[in-house]
Amino acid sequence: MRQHANEISGEELKALTGAIRTRYGIDFTNYEVKSLKRGIARLITKHETGSLLGLWSKILRDRDFFMKCIDDLTVNLTDLFRNPDFWVFLHDEVLDSYKTQRKIDVWHAGCSTGEEIYSMAVVLEDKDLLHKSQLWATDLSSRALAKAIDGKYSKTLIGRYEKGLLNYLPNKSINEVFNIYPSHIEVKGKYKKKIDYQQHNLVHDSVKKKFDIIFCRNVMIYFDNNLKMKVLRLFHESLNEDGVFIVGYYDVFPNESKTLFEPLNSKTRVYKKVINDTLN
Ligand SMILES: C[S@@+](CC[C@H](N)C(=O)[O-])C[C@H]1O[C@@H](n2cnc3c(N)ncnc32)[C@H](O)[C@@H]1O
Repeated sequence: MRQHANEISGEELKALTGAIRTRYGIDFTNYEVKSLKRGIARLITKHETGSLLGLWSKILRDRDFFMKCIDDLTVNLTDLFRNPDFWVFLHDEVLDSYKTQRKIDVWHAGCSTGEEIYSMAVVLEDKDLLHKSQLWATDLSSRALAKAIDGKYSKTLIGRYEKGLLNYLPNKSINEVFNIYPSHIEVKGKYKKKIDYQQHNLVHDSVKKKFDIIFCRNVMIYFDNNLKMKVLRLFHESLNEDGVFIVGYYDVFPNESKTLFEPLNSKTRVYKKVINDTLN
């Protein structure tokens, strides 16, 4: 019999995430309970372990198996030009202020399979800013990162990507962004070479650089409030003084986050850093 998400108890979840933290140093203990339980139930079905116990022993015995499980414990869902009105706002209202700046440093935290970074690279190019931009893209999942680095996507997506591009950047054609092959499409090298990829866990890895723009869209939805505040502080510290911080449409934050960020545009979830001497 297969175990469903609602049959996994809070104690079982706590024990498993605690054991994973001890064994692999990857911390899911403050992830949102419901989505973790759904992820575990997905893994039980996919790997036919029958129960949490079966999954548990496989996870703790086999590092490679566990690394493959990360994608099911989180969610990699992403898209090119996800939330078009956000990209229009960024393009029309935010990026002009960087015209006179010597260089632009951007961090995509939780970049998944790369569509968000490549969208940004295309928008930066359209604003004639790509040549002086450096994009740093990080994710917990090595499999998602490998796909992002590859920049190869299914040809079946071409219609959707084309619609996305043409709606928001009418001067750009799909052939300028992707090489199109019989079996797949591949992001052009001029975008790929601007991006520095790294595996990075927002929960416990430090950041040594400073950025002008940080994206963390649809990542913290899986964190509880304490973890959200910890990670928001990391973003606050990692932003330059006039830095811009961008989150997803469904990201919800505790009230105390207002001491760190204030809205530049609430609808498209674009924020700017609050400078507060008592925080630094
Ligand atoms: C839903 S995707 C978001 C992709 C993209 N930002 C977007 O909005 O289209 C969430 C990503 O967050 C990553 N993630 C989850 N927990 C993380 C953590 N602790 N550190 C870094 N990345 C994490 C997952 O691996 C996944 O690729």
